Amino acid sequence: MSALPQLQMDKTPSVEAFFDAQSNTISYVVKDPDSRACAVIDAVMEFDYAAGRLSYDSADAIISYIKAHDLKLEWIIESHVHADHLSGAPYIQQELGGKIGIGEHILTVQETFGKIFNEGTEFARDGSQFDRLFVDNDTYQVGSMTCTALHTPGHTPACMVHIMGDAAFAGDTLFMPDGGSARADFPGGDAGQLYDSITRVLALPSEMRLFVCHDYGPGGRAIAWETTVGDQRRANIHVGGNASRAAFVKMRETRDAQLAMPKLIIPSLQVNIRAGEIPTDTQGDMALKVPVNKL
Ligand SMILES: [Fe+2]
Repeated sequence: MSALPQLQMDKTPSVEAFFDAQSNTISYVVKDPDSRACAVIDAVMEFDYAAGRLSYDSADAIISYIKAHDLKLEWIIESHVHADHLSGAPYIQQELGGKIGIGEHILTVQETFGKIFNEGTEFARDGSQFDRLFVDNDTYQVGSMTCTALHTPGHTPACMVHIMGDAAFAGDTLFMPDGGSARADFPGGDAGQLYDSITRVLALPSEMRLFVCHDYGPGGRAIAWETTVGDQRRANIHVGGNASRAAFVKMRETRDAQLAMPKLIIPSLQVNIRAGEIPTDTQGDMALKVPVNKL
């Protein structure tokens, strides 16, 4: 396990959340407390699969918010290659600029799904679709904040948790304490690795704010997205109270075996391995494949 990152707990960015009801995703605009600089995390582009139609209400809401508050967008972060929604990153970048960043292990994900989708040589498996590939413990600036990306594989190989001031963005490493953890059964996922990654997140300061990427409102409670590292340590139903690695792996694998594939996994992966760009067919039109019996 790598050393703990340098933290800036004295910096408290403002965090604005945007909830996408189709995929239960929470996107964030994170603003540096000492400048107009901001970052967007995990933006969504809506897709009506039955109609094959894209729309941009969620990304437009983020763009309007950034413009209305006169912010300068520096980074558009993908916590990982999402399997449940299409990324709105390029749409936002076109409008506001900023660099799109993801973990360096995107190369593994591109290799895996390049095969599953029979992608040709025109699909580069070198991460070049992104502006920046973060390595473990990498740092980057959002205004005055020196942010850190922690490699947290398990849900997917390229997952990262991003730390900005006193806030950590958990991606799909952890859900809210009553939601537990994300599945680890996608190609390249690993429940033991996920446990190790969660352990690393739980070693962050207990007062650090923790923002999740998904919430499903278990038991009918209202949708929520903000917790703390301390709350997770105490109360997370999958890892709180020092659950053992073996018990976690057994629980996760049993549970994952019963889960259906996310509704948008097939379009999401094809788009998100390309940093949110839609692939094109031989005529140059945007088009997606549905591989049969491969996932
Ligand atoms: Fe995910």
